[in-house]
Amino acid sequence: MTDWQKRGNKVLFNCIKRIPVTIARGQGVRVWDDNDNEYIDFVGGWAVCVLGHCHPLMVKAINKQAKTLIQTSHIYYTMPYIKLAELLVKNSCFDRVFMGNSGLEANEGAVKLARRYGKIKLNGAYEVITAFNSFHGRSLAMTAATGQPKYQEPYEPLPIGFVNVPFNDIESLMSATTAKTCAIMLEPVQGEGGVNLPLPGYLKAVRQWCNEKGILLIFDEVQTGLGRLGTLWGYQTYRVEPDIMTLSKGLGGGVPIGAFLAKDKCSVFQPGDHGTTFGGNPLTCAVAYEVVKYVIDKDVPSQAKKTGQYLIKELKKLQKKYPFITEIRGEGLLVAVEFNREMATEVLNACLQTGVLVNAVKPNAIRLMPALVITNEEIDEGLARIEKALKTIK
Ligand SMILES: Cc1ncc(COP(=O)(O)O)c(C=O)c1O
Repeated sequence: MTDWQKRGNKVLFNCIKRIPVTIARGQGVRVWDDNDNEYIDFVGGWAVCVLGHCHPLMVKAINKQAKTLIQTSHIYYTMPYIKLAELLVKNSCFDRVFMGNSGLEANEGAVKLARRYGKIKLNGAYEVITAFNSFHGRSLAMTAATGQPKYQEPYEPLPIGFVNVPFNDIESLMSATTAKTCAIMLEPVQGEGGVNLPLPGYLKAVRQWCNEKGILLIFDEVQTGLGRLGTLWGYQTYRVEPDIMTLSKGLGGGVPIGAFLAKDKCSVFQPGDHGTTFGGNPLTCAVAYEVVKYVIDKDVPSQAKKTGQYLIKELKKLQKKYPFITEIRGEGLLVAVEFNREMATEVLNACLQTGVLVNAVKPNAIRLMPALVITNEEIDEGLARIEKALKTIK
């Protein structure tokens, strides 16, 4: 344990299973620790750093905006907020945007909007159906939305108004829908739950069901948004338009920002219904604007689709060599490697020794979610380091 880690352990809450690495700096798809050891970063700030670390475009935007205006509260109009919202609306199927600071805030806002819709249009319906193995954030309400008992049990009793059903099971969703239901909220691909892909036709069937019942469909695209799946928005990969979409992570490329977007038909908020102090602040919006514009102008999602296919192809070669790898699954640059036993932490630790960061998403699986601009050569280099680590596993 290094000095920084000892200092951290004295003063930080012990609520995170921290990896014993102190990251000092980053550039592109690489980071360096406090002893100047280099790592290829397949975690990317938890699927955030879509342009890699310290991209010059972001550095320039931060500098420029820091000299101009940093915070006003969004009770005032500011140019960066409006420009970013316009860019998102122009490039999606949505009409209205609200900016916050994180994924959970985006989801809270989306659920509040759905509840307002329920109150006004659906006789007071307020319940939101979500899926087991989902992940929607760590506030109390989002913990209730997140269908994972390990996150829920320590905080019970949880807020009411959420019903969890199995993912990829349309019948359960239908049976759980009642007169109290105002919305269904799903991740198009469950990220934190283990990179669980939707079965063919599932999301379309959910859309159909929402149409039939007159309830809203919310896609939590906090992880899948901004190119992660190989299309700008995850909903485009599956050709299913939600009524509300939430974003965060990649949206700012590393600066803390979240957003929810909605179609006009459900944009029922009235002045005073929702708010935030920092949401939509000029600094994060100016940076996010540059990130989103770059991703769109350079068609980064198509690039991520190709490199994602290459990553999966190369991982499948590893699977043939190492029988303890049982499955490779993913979409775009959101990929999981599953093992035949609970060895993810062992693999993660071995990877630290060979200079590569991976995420132990489940006891028996690691997740790779690098910068969307990673090249095939960088993938090769990272996978060579992963293989070196796998060779040490007994
Ligand atoms: C799909 C999804 N929704 C919501 C969240 C919560 O985001 P945040 O940690 O920014 O609150 C996450 C975080 O991993 C996520 O993956």
